[in-house]
Amino acid sequence: MEISRATDVSDANAGQIAYWNDEAGSRWAALQRRTDAAFSVVTEAALDYAGPAADEAVLDVGCGCGATVLELARRVGPNGNVLGVDVSKAMLDIATERTRRRHLMNVQLVLADASTHRFGEAAFDLAFSRFGVMFFDNPVSAFANIKRSLRDGGRLTFICWRDLAENPWFFVPLAAAKAYLPPQAQPDPESPGPLSFADKDRVYRILQRAGFTAIELNRHDTMMRLSGPNELESAADFATQIGPVSRALAGADASLRIDVRAAILEVLREHEGPEGVFLPASVWIVSGRL
Ligand SMILES: C[S@@+](CC[C@H](N)C(=O)[O-])C[C@H]1O[C@@H](n2cnc3c(N)ncnc32)[C@H](O)[C@@H]1O
Repeated sequence: MEISRATDVSDANAGQIAYWNDEAGSRWAALQRRTDAAFSVVTEAALDYAGPAADEAVLDVGCGCGATVLELARRVGPNGNVLGVDVSKAMLDIATERTRRRHLMNVQLVLADASTHRFGEAAFDLAFSRFGVMFFDNPVSAFANIKRSLRDGGRLTFICWRDLAENPWFFVPLAAAKAYLPPQAQPDPESPGPLSFADKDRVYRILQRAGFTAIELNRHDTMMRLSGPNELESAADFATQIGPVSRALAGADASLRIDVRAAILEVLREHEGPEGVFLPASVWIVSGRL
């Protein structure tokens, strides 16, 4: 199976496209099994909420390494189809390999910017995303573009992170790391990034301006599994390589990384139980209709 490359490129989202094709894309590609395990419970909840049905056509926005593409393809069955779109070549390569291994004929993958790609009008019954829609420079025009690809009666469901304060799986490792990091400017909460859709009213406004109706944001709390039993070291690796800690460590030298990882390991020890290392997390399950 080949990934198709978009020809309708623009300079929108240049910063994020560079980010996901640089070290972050390779890191996420290498962490694919870990992220899929950590996100499995919340993924199930979001997919059940979206309710992909047999024979439906689904767009998976920011599909990354393809976990949700595979599950959507299973749920829509051989007469349905799934198009996974992502800007990261390294992550789409993993998605391609996973699709090929399963001999899935109802999946296509495209390397493109979901905010500007011409998907074709009225192509999908459902647009879905697992943490792939918080990175647009202009979210209103991105969602308007996604909306154009939906059929009459079509629907949108995605999950995004709630506030840092509601996500100990982000802030516990970050607080441990901060003792070693130089003071950092508070990021603009609305600039593209994992927490940019934390504000419920902002997400509502974006979707409304993009033309969606029946918009709902439902809080969903879960436990994030950072590792299995007796895998504290591995939990520390994972927590160092994902989320705000990884962004704060961009460009850090090896000795700083070692110190930060050691501090994170100590703090995660307090959250280790017989089943592994777990920390609370909280997301919005967001939905809208055409
Ligand atoms: C946090 S990762 C989530 C990946 C995947 N959905 C998952 O849950 O494992 C965010 C994904 O969004 C993709 N992305 C960011 N901006 C995008 C854009 N404008 N168009 C398409 N994909 C984008 C990134 O390349 C990355 O794969």
